Amino acid sequence: MPVEPFGRLDNNPEIRQRLLPYCRLKSGDIWSDPVCGHKVGVLDAAKIDDVQKVFGEEKATLAVQDPPYNVAVGAENTDNLFKWNLQEYMAWSKRWIENNLKILSTDASIYIWLGADQREHFQPLPDFMIMMRDYAELASRSFITMRNQRGYGTQKNWMAVRQECLYYTKGNPIFNVDAEYTDIPKILRGYYKDVNGQKTENFERSKSENIRAGNVWVDIQQVFYRLQENVTGCYAQKPMKSIERIVKASSQEGDLITDFFAHSGTTLLVGELFKRRVYTFDIDPVFAELTIRRLEHFRKTGKTGFQCVNPFPEIADFVIERKQEELPKTLQNIQFKHQGISKNHNFNR
Ligand SMILES: C[S@@+](CC[C@H](N)C(=O)[O-])C[C@H]1O[C@@H](n2cnc3c(N)ncnc32)[C@H](O)[C@@H]1O
Repeated sequence: MPVEPFGRLDNNPEIRQRLLPYCRLKSGDIWSDPVCGHKVGVLDAAKIDDVQKVFGEEKATLAVQDPPYNVAVGAENTDNLFKWNLQEYMAWSKRWIENNLKILSTDASIYIWLGADQREHFQPLPDFMIMMRDYAELASRSFITMRNQRGYGTQKNWMAVRQECLYYTKGNPIFNVDAEYTDIPKILRGYYKDVNGQKTENFERSKSENIRAGNVWVDIQQVFYRLQENVTGCYAQKPMKSIERIVKASSQEGDLITDFFAHSGTTLLVGELFKRRVYTFDIDPVFAELTIRRLEHFRKTGKTGFQCVNPFPEIADFVIERKQEELPKTLQNIQFKHQGISKNHNFNR
């Protein structure tokens, strides 16, 4: 039975509090999946005891990491959002990277999604890249940019539509070249190289009708509420297709992969779909619960997310009450918008 969705959890501390009693894990707990051997925990990526608790003696061949970027984007009220100073953020990043290195196998890949705050000298991306030079066991491999469809800052600046992902390797892990073709047809002809005195064309470069992904991804739909994979309450969900591309290129069936920042559980679900085992966790019990519920919901319904539906029917009545209370305010805002008045307009001026 569909129930009314709620908004982003970072904007709704009251809803988050209501969800906590329905989370099966508390801090330090780990859920072991009886079906495919995945694990989901409420753990801190920066604490080595937490990381070792989930891994024991096991090692992962692929890490897909999507930490908080220290960049506030899209929240209604950025005043309430926690932001580190850069030194603290970098010290924290060092801790979780070092913990990640301890649980990687001899030949492994690590992908790290990060942001650059254009209002603050592009922190933390360049600082992070420089920090990564300290780890001699890692080789830098690629700097991927994914294009979002929706951006911010359109009036006085270039619209910000990019997300960055750094790819490093340890040892000599696989890179499955066949996995990284897009759905985009090859349309540009062009000279490629001389073969026996004859110029070959771009089309002859490979058998595929489609172009290779390269390190600029423009073919991936950003997650928004109408997509089936949308998880109500999540505010930083990665599209499954982006994680699928990474998982297919840098791991094989049966591999153990990890994600220290589960949030909506995208890596777990992609692992489930492509027969990888996933050890994942989040510091917040609500996101760990959402991660488990998303997997269970998928197994029950075949759906990859909750689209516009509340994954916590336990608080359905409360969400509906809140919406009814907020309705007059929302209608007033629509009326102001219609009259060209911003909701932040100062009427006393
Ligand atoms: C950018 S989101 C990850 C999004 C995820 N890739 C997805 O597709 O849903 C970052 C997550 O990291 C979690 N987090 C923040 N600090 C953490 C820590 N020290 N350890 C583990 N998780 C943490 C946050 O609660 C948040 O859910």
